[in-house]
Amino acid sequence: MLDQAEGFVTADGRKIGGVVMEMKNITLRFGGVVAIKDISFDIREGEIRAIIGPNGAGKSSMLNVISGFYTPSEGEVWFRGKKRPPMRPYEVARQGIARTFQNIALFDGMSVLDNVMTGRLTQMKAGLFSQALWKGRAEKEEIANREMVERVIDFLEIQHIRKTPVSRLPYGLKKRVELARALAAQPKLLLLDEPMAGMNVEEKEDMCRFILDVNDEFGTTIALIEHDMGVVMDLSDRVVVMDYGKKIGDGPPDEVRSNPDVIDAYLGVAHD
Ligand SMILES: Nc1ncnc2c1ncn2[C@@H]1O[C@H](COP(=O)(O)OP(=O)(O)O)[C@@H](O)[C@H]1O
Ligand SMILES: [Mg+2]
Repeated sequence: MLDQAEGFVTADGRKIGGVVMEMKNITLRFGGVVAIKDISFDIREGEIRAIIGPNGAGKSSMLNVISGFYTPSEGEVWFRGKKRPPMRPYEVARQGIARTFQNIALFDGMSVLDNVMTGRLTQMKAGLFSQALWKGRAEKEEIANREMVERVIDFLEIQHIRKTPVSRLPYGLKKRVELARALAAQPKLLLLDEPMAGMNVEEKEDMCRFILDVNDEFGTTIALIEHDMGVVMDLSDRVVVMDYGKKIGDGPPDEVRSNPDVIDAYLGVAHD
């Protein structure tokens, strides 16, 4: 059984910790459209949590609630044991939550290195004023930023394109640079909105490996949206299934895959 504080061990021997994020009875409306209807689920320390469901199910909206981009119409967001007041996305980022977008959101004209560097912005402590007053601290911070950025660049194997403007990169590499930028913030919780959408088989395999490696090496908790059931089965510890804004399944991949409601919602539905 799941224990709220202690966590559990998965069928393949992965240790999952206590609850870090809890969504309680979340509803999100856009005018007359109800994008999310009274959904509750949690995310546990160290796990890879997938959110799946047909197009328009409300998956991106849910990720946007977690990242502070949308404020839920009803319900509560709990993070690390505390109820979170309505927050701006930058405040959420400062709490250690980073994300990538369904449609790549990089600075096209800037180099890979500079794009990844922008991921450090939420982490910078020294403001302009203290930079002027206290040069030492700002310098130390700059060195720490560089080191983290270089580590991420090495880790995601993008050294060879570090000086290349993002606009010149193929799609799969752009997605990897976006992951690098998110990782540079050293998030506790990483949110990935369809990290493999539009990729060819080889790019997908690479991205899968990097996601698993990030989780393993940095201990990062990951919540990801993905359409490809095979990928979800390979990657995730637990899966939330959404359909028309409702939660229709929640559990380990094998269990979810054999849930009749999930099969109904999923089979025969065309995905892009
Ligand atoms: N900013 C918005 N304004 C109005 N409707 C929106 C907005 N964002 C999402 N929606 C609607 O909410 C529903 C869920 O969308 P979304 O969360 O993008 O689904 P998914 O990511 O599962 O494909 C859809 O009906 C969509 O049209
Ligand atoms: Mg979406």
